[in-house]
Amino acid sequence: MQVRIARKFAVATDICAFELVHPDGAPLPAFSAGAHVEVRLRDGLVRHYSLCNSPLESHRYLIAVLRDAHSRGGSMAMHALEMGSSIEIGAPNNHFPLNLRARHSLLLAGGIGVTPLMAMAEALDHAGASFDLHYCTRSTERTAFRDRLAEPRFAGRVHLYFDDARDGTKISFDALLAQPRVDTHLYVCGPSGFIEAVTGAAKAAGWIDANVHREYFAAGVAEGDSSAFQVTLSSTGRVIDVAPDVTVVAALAQAGVELPTSCEQGVCGTCLTRVLSGQPDHRDVYLTDEEKDANDQFLPCCSRSKSPMLVLDL
Ligand code: FES
Repeated sequence: MQVRIARKFAVATDICAFELVHPDGAPLPAFSAGAHVEVRLRDGLVRHYSLCNSPLESHRYLIAVLRDAHSRGGSMAMHALEMGSSIEIGAPNNHFPLNLRARHSLLLAGGIGVTPLMAMAEALDHAGASFDLHYCTRSTERTAFRDRLAEPRFAGRVHLYFDDARDGTKISFDALLAQPRVDTHLYVCGPSGFIEAVTGAAKAAGWIDANVHREYFAAGVAEGDSSAFQVTLSSTGRVIDVAPDVTVVAALAQAGVELPTSCEQGVCGTCLTRVLSGQPDHRDVYLTDEEKDANDQFLPCCSRSKSPMLVLDL
């Protein structure tokens, strides 16, 4: 659908928020906390941004984008957009849903990873539910939504940490996560190192997997050798070549086999495919290390093969 950029404003150094509205002022499709939208930019560039306004709002979607000079072009293209212009987006999709029945929710944000957690904080506040948001950034200037987080309704529930603070409070994931409870859920979003530190501390403290929810705001798809290989479709025995510069999803599509995809960055799990033989070269951030080691499934939107042939359950 086409939406209009009704407002574009800075929410921190290098972070711009975009308020997207229906061109006719009509309500937008509903979304739930943790949802994102796909934004289709010029030259076929597609990016996913979490919605960071309250899910109770239907007149707008709010997204926030970090300008990253090292990105593959998405953030720069977004920052170049002007207020009043139109862009195409997909319907909201949620791979990071919030459990509103939890007794307590712990939201942990690293940098721009705060965006889906803002929508969660809004939803939890509206539901009168118990939560704490811990938000780590490099400095005050790089902390998005400071005004919103300083509103009285969030008092005592928002905790900010700055890397450059000499005498400020330092976050301790071990201390924060020391006492897991079956009715407490943990949500973490941020760079992969941040997520790994949080989930590692949660695992060490005995949190059950079902209560630990994560979303990577940037996949950082792993680089590696991109040699050609082949995949076999087990249902027909058909063999398909995968060229060095083509993903498995694209090679399959060229051969007329369409797989469902969403993020195309190894983040969402939509394209998860069973592997019957061969050794995948996992480049995603979706599967756990144990799942990757099992070699029986992979994400063909970004992962490749270490063996000359992969037999897929397709
Ligand atoms: Fe999202 Fe492949 S499409 S992981």
